[in-house]
Amino acid sequence: MSTGAPGRTGHPGPPGRHPAGVLSRRALLGGALAALTLPALAACTGEPSPRPDAPSSPRRPAPALADDGTPLVTAPPLAASSVDAAGVRVFRLRARAGTTEFRPGTVTPTCGYEGAYLGPTLRARRGETVRVEVANELLEDTTVHWHGMELPGAADGGPHVPIPPGGSSWPTWTVAQPAATLWYHPHPHGATTAQVLRGLAGAFLVDDPGTPPGLPGEYGVDDVPLLLQDPRLTPDGRIDEETRTAIGPLGDVVLVNGVAGGCLPVSTTRVRLRVVNASPARVYGLAAADGRELTLVGTDGGLLAAPVPVRSVRLSPGERAEVVVGLAPGERVGLVSLPPELGLLPQLAAPYGADRTLPLLELRAAAELRPSPELPAALADVPPPDPGAASGERTFELSANRIDGRAHDPGRIDLRVPLGATEVWTVTSAHEQPHSFHPHGVRFRVLSVAGAAPPPELAGWKDTVYVPPRTPLRLLVGFAQPADERAPFMYHCHVLWHEDQGMMGQFVVGAP
Ligand code: C2O
Ligand code: CU
Ligand code: CU
Repeated sequence: MSTGAPGRTGHPGPPGRHPAGVLSRRALLGGALAALTLPALAACTGEPSPRPDAPSSPRRPAPALADDGTPLVTAPPLAASSVDAAGVRVFRLRARAGTTEFRPGTVTPTCGYEGAYLGPTLRARRGETVRVEVANELLEDTTVHWHGMELPGAADGGPHVPIPPGGSSWPTWTVAQPAATLWYHPHPHGATTAQVLRGLAGAFLVDDPGTPPGLPGEYGVDDVPLLLQDPRLTPDGRIDEETRTAIGPLGDVVLVNGVAGGCLPVSTTRVRLRVVNASPARVYGLAAADGRELTLVGTDGGLLAAPVPVRSVRLSPGERAEVVVGLAPGERVGLVSLPPELGLLPQLAAPYGADRTLPLLELRAAAELRPSPELPAALADVPPPDPGAASGERTFELSANRIDGRAHDPGRIDLRVPLGATEVWTVTSAHEQPHSFHPHGVRFRVLSVAGAAPPPELAGWKDTVYVPPRTPLRLLVGFAQPADERAPFMYHCHVLWHEDQGMMGQFVVGAP
């Protein structure tokens, strides 16, 4: 079903511990060099590359403006691909440093794939074999992890397979899951926060020929991925990587596909927004500013059984939601992040960024709209989860940058799971901080939240879930993909600073 390990060139370094990136960052951020923030960024900011053949660094200009001067939000470009003689769909992703004008006239050093900030949208069909030729044109190690993809550990892009500067990797796998909005981002040991915050993130859409007609699906027209990031810009325009809360960096402005305070022109009566929380720490409460219902059609791992009207959707780091918004001709509807319900002590909402309503973007309907078809009543086959199918049970306690009291150790395998098993994983946070639990290589269902049935936004396929304090979440996890000691799967908090600080474990999946 799935094929092959990634090939690699350059010097992959020893498997397991690969501290180079961490050490250089720590060295640069500490001591006498603390005042010099530019060298810390140089690894990813378009400083001259040591490679003589390095292409010039990409620049992303300020966004185009609508008639009234509002910046326009556009869908990320679709990634080009070709199909080789063996029928494999081949993509290319170069991780590069460049510059972006988030504010007109202010040049911000950023990173992106195939461009200066964020990456193109990869798109493949269920059943298709894909290969992504990943090249690292940064000056530090990176990886590309396919978040939510069910694929062998060797192709997963986890921290055990760093791609050195100038190196490349070409993971190959067969897409073996239903339609979903997945995403990709770096996962280098100890340095994920910084690389994601600089803009290394993109969407990966899985199409399924079995999806019923009726969902808006014209890419960039009525079907638009929206990647949310919230970097804080320093007065001179750099991304501030040093100012952080206990959950890592929290910005004060939300960029949607790299645009702050933007608008998205809409030409149809319904638009499908595939919202990806690509922020390191912020939890969003996605909602319409005027309180109208959004129709939730999908979550991390795929479409829901049926469309569900919701007032807001909580999205913790790494989570996705597909919502359909209905519009009347000429209408303008703001999308905002309402203060999300985090289940924390009230006095902690502000320190963790959950006390304010933040504008995301405005949907601007044209004076005349093309009518969209009715949404299908049934979207996907999502059978009720059957805990009786589980062959094992495990518990995980999250606290203070640790899981079960242990910090991540690349040399320690925390769990061994039989290939093909289904297990109940109970995850509890003992800690007054937001956490977001994510295991690699699997999809799961939420069986219960503090003993109660999950709300609709947690009732479909998931791969990442917000974990409120003192609230056991029971998850039913299926293990369909292998991973061995050389490239085990990770499970971790997707609050990326927590992950970088060691709130991560690793598991192998193999013959019982
Ligand atoms: Cu989104 Cu371990 O990853
Ligand atoms: Cu992941
Ligand atoms: Cu956490």
